[in-house]
Amino acid sequence: MRSGLAETIQRSMANITVPNTRLNTNSKAIPLLGFGTAEYPFGSSDNVRECLLDAIRLGYRHFDSAALYQSEQPLGEAVAEALELGLVNSREELFITTKLWCSDAHGDRVVPALQTSLKNLGLEYVDLYLVHWPVCVKAGEYELPVKKEDLLPFDYEGVWKAMEECQQLGLAKSIGVSNFSCKKLEKLLSISEIPPAVNQVEVNPLWQQQKLRQFCNEKGIHITAYSPLGAKGTLWGSDRVMESEVLQEIAKAIGKTLAQVGI
Ligand SMILES: NC(=O)c1ccc[n+]([C@@H]2O[C@H](COP(=O)([O-])OP(=O)(O)OC[C@H]3O[C@@H](n4cnc5c(N)ncnc54)[C@H](OP(=O)(O)O)[C@@H]3O)[C@@H](O)[C@H]2O)c1
Repeated sequence: MRSGLAETIQRSMANITVPNTRLNTNSKAIPLLGFGTAEYPFGSSDNVRECLLDAIRLGYRHFDSAALYQSEQPLGEAVAEALELGLVNSREELFITTKLWCSDAHGDRVVPALQTSLKNLGLEYVDLYLVHWPVCVKAGEYELPVKKEDLLPFDYEGVWKAMEECQQLGLAKSIGVSNFSCKKLEKLLSISEIPPAVNQVEVNPLWQQQKLRQFCNEKGIHITAYSPLGAKGTLWGSDRVMESEVLQEIAKAIGKTLAQVGI
């Protein structure tokens, strides 16, 4: 985004406060509007740091990263620069999430994987560390889609115990999961000492996840919605949300863009 445009939008956003909510860990509140950092193909842009810095200028304080996305390093650089420029007063003002990739979903690899992510981010802790998928593949691969021949059984107890250790060590203020169904969450809850604070899943007007949302609500697990616009132009998404005639009519009727309706 050009900085002139960013400055104009920043001025218009000056009085906007993003609502937030407390997680079950009762640590820092999570802003309900976050900035995703997955681009497809991963790591294909060279201006990610500048985009993220613009996002901070615009008022975003919640950033969603992952070991897979190759966005940890530019995010860390943007955070360091934002602090240097005084766009934020302290690291505490930001809510940073990153995720454990499937090839590190082995009990003995979880803590080292988070330590690597923290090194990439240049941070001492993340606000939220998520198990990216309830999937395990052989160590060493960081690619999507995962190869069928690399799949291994997912070790709920070993992985979650190590996730709990991440929180106990102070490397993650909260821990959670992503792409977990009700059944998988039930299984996790039955073996966990620290329940997951968040389940990050796809939610958009065409995929509303009502059963999962109700389940998570009852269990005190916060749902973070990803791909609110249907992830058009990516490997995992489609045009269905952005091309929906019903959503176009709604947007027109209320004087908003279709993207605003989706979010
Ligand atoms: N946990 C997980 O497994 C998981 C999976 C997917 C995503 N996520 C997270 O969720 C974030 C967002 O999801 P997403 O990137 O998959 O999908 P999304 O936000 O639904 O869609 C992103 C696409 O929407 C288009 N777009 C963005 N703003 C727009 C606007 N104002 N008007 C029209 N089109 C617009 C862009 O397409 P063009 O570039 O073609 O214009 C962009 O590539 C990711 O960055 C990531 O952090 C997590």
